[in-house]
Order: sequence, then structure tokens, then C-alpha cells
Amino acid sequence: MKPGVSGALSDLPAGGGWDFGGFAYGLEPLLLPVVGAPDAEPVDVVQPDAYAEICRYLQVIGEDSPPVLDVEPEDLFWFRWITGHQVCFIVWRLIAQGLDDLAEGRRPAGEVISSVSRYVDGYSAMLLYTGSCPPDLYNVLIRPSMRQRHRAFSGSWAPDYWPIRDLFRRRRLPPMVRVDTGELTAAITMLHRVHDGVAARLVANGRSLLREAQVRGPGHRMAGMIYDSYFTTLRAAVPRHEVVAQLLRRLVAVAQDVAANGLYPVEGDGDRPPELETPEVLKFEGELGDTLLSVARCACELSPGPSA
Ligand code: HEM
Repeated sequence: MKPGVSGALSDLPAGGGWDFGGFAYGLEPLLLPVVGAPDAEPVDVVQPDAYAEICRYLQVIGEDSPPVLDVEPEDLFWFRWITGHQVCFIVWRLIAQGLDDLAEGRRPAGEVISSVSRYVDGYSAMLLYTGSCPPDLYNVLIRPSMRQRHRAFSGSWAPDYWPIRDLFRRRRLPPMVRVDTGELTAAITMLHRVHDGVAARLVANGRSLLREAQVRGPGHRMAGMIYDSYFTTLRAAVPRHEVVAQLLRRLVAVAQDVAANGLYPVEGDGDRPPELETPEVLKFEGELGDTLLSVARCACELSPGPSA
């Protein structure tokens, strides 16, 4: 293979068997632009047919009998923790770009609200997915690994979250946007419910490392670097089609994993706190595959609904 011809990280997923990280439940580093930087100039063009083909594959993953991939729980949930977070970083970037499009009037507001709402759903789906690990395993493996990086390690350090933090905290768009945002508000409400539920399920007192730490957090820039490096995320000029390819690679792997193992593979681990027991959350959980597909279709600029 000639250097530069295949991006490896950004190759579109093959469709079929497992094609991520070199082996089942392997990881891949994520390469994203610096937060706030525009996409790099494209070096290549992806044919819409190639995107449509991957979306068709995503749609049938759950219907075909997926390969049962043997894996130790530690490896499975480590994969989910890192890869699920990487998917969040990409959808956060896509949300931020949607908000910029809205502010600059580059796309019709209704269209932007619709795709941003699907990305918010994608974030909620990834909270359920990354948060599906058994609480015991979370508390002996995952939480200590973050604490080792910094005693006060926090989701609030995520660089890609900064541009959209206001949207999530206030649950509304800036007042100049005159369009019905009910769909987006509902998606953000679901997101907060799921985040609270995952926190309650995994950590008995729901207290974050940041809240328990006896030390001061690092400065903003250092916090971002600690956070990125933990989640094997690097920053470089990357064109949009490579961002999208990295998203699709991960969505396919996640969908294959959930089809093979279910969301809660360890018996008894579907036990949930009340936040995750509401009919809305249970319905959302049952439609996880559709949510992944809608995120993929929005990112590929295909209509968000499933293809016929
Ligand atoms: C499952 C994956 C998770 C993701 C993607 C995630 C993401 C985030 C993000 C982006 C923030 C910043 C919110 C803001 O500043 O407005 C945050 C804050 C927070 N998260 Fe999570 N979170 C996750 C799991 C958890 C868990 C398991 C807990 C349980 C302790 C938790 C507790 C908190 C708390 C208390 C905050 C407020 C800031 C802090 O104290 O660190 N989260 N989270």
C-alpha cells in the first residue's frame, strides 16, 4: 500500500466482518481538527453511493446473525468506554458546526435543528453504550484509570464540548433563532436524564472525581490535553470526509458489538436507577440501532430516516 493513498484511520468501514482496530474490540486513535478550526481542504471525494452502502449495512447489522466475538469483559468495556467517547467527540463537533451554520444562515434552520437533534440523540446513545459496563468493573478499572491521569479528571474538560456547553446547560438556542426547537429541547432533556442515570448506576453517590478531588484542576488547555490523550485523540488538520469516515468506522463497530452482545451483556447488569427506567428511556434504548443509523445518515448528508 502506497503511503498517503490509504488513510487507514479514515478508510470507510468494509461492511461484513469486524473491521476496526485490527482485531475484535481493538482501539483506533481519533484524529480531529483543533476545536473551533474549520475542516481542512478535502484531498479526496467520497461518492454518495459509498456512504449509502455503509448506511444500508448499518441498517441490517441487527437483522443478520452477527458474528459472536469472544471477548473478556475488561476488553469489551474498555473498548466501549474509549470508542463510545470518541463518537461523542465527533458528534459534538458536528453539533457545533450545525450551530455555526445556523448563526451564519448557511443552511435552513429547520434542517439544522433536525440534524443537531439526531446528533444529540447520538450522544445520549453513547452515554448508554459507554455507561453499560458493570458498576464493579467501572469502579475497579475505568474510574481508577481516569483518576490516575488526574485526581480531578472530569467530563467538563472535554475540548469538543466547550462550543456546545451553553446549548446543553441552557437547553435552548440563542434567541435570534426563530424556529420551532421542540425536537431539540426534547433530545437535550433525554440527554440529561440519561447522563444522570448513568452516573447514578455507575457511582453509588453519583459524585464525580472532580467533586471528590482534594486538588485543584489544571488550567483549561492542560485539562483538554489530559482529556484528549486519555481518550487517544490527536489534533491535526482533517478534512470533513475523514471526520465522517472515522465516525462511520466507529458506528459500525458499535452496532456490531451491540448486535452480538446486547447493550448489557453481563447478566443482571440491566439493573437501572429510576432515571433509566422511564418509558421514554426504555423506548430510546430499544431504538439504539435506529439512532446510530440516523447519526450516520445525517453525517453523510443523506436524509436522516432509514433508506427503503
Ligand atoms: C458515560 C460517559 C460520560 C460522559 C460522556 C460524560 C460527559 C460529561 C460532560 C461532557 C460533562 C460536562 C457537563 C458540563 O460542564 O455542562 C460532564 C459532567 C459531569 N459528569 Fe459526566 N459523563 C459521563 C459519565 C459520568 C459518570 C459515570 C458520572 C458519575 C460520577 C458523571 C458525573 C458527572 C458530574 C457530577 C459532572 C459535573 C462536572 C463534574 O463534577 O465533573 N458522569 N459529564
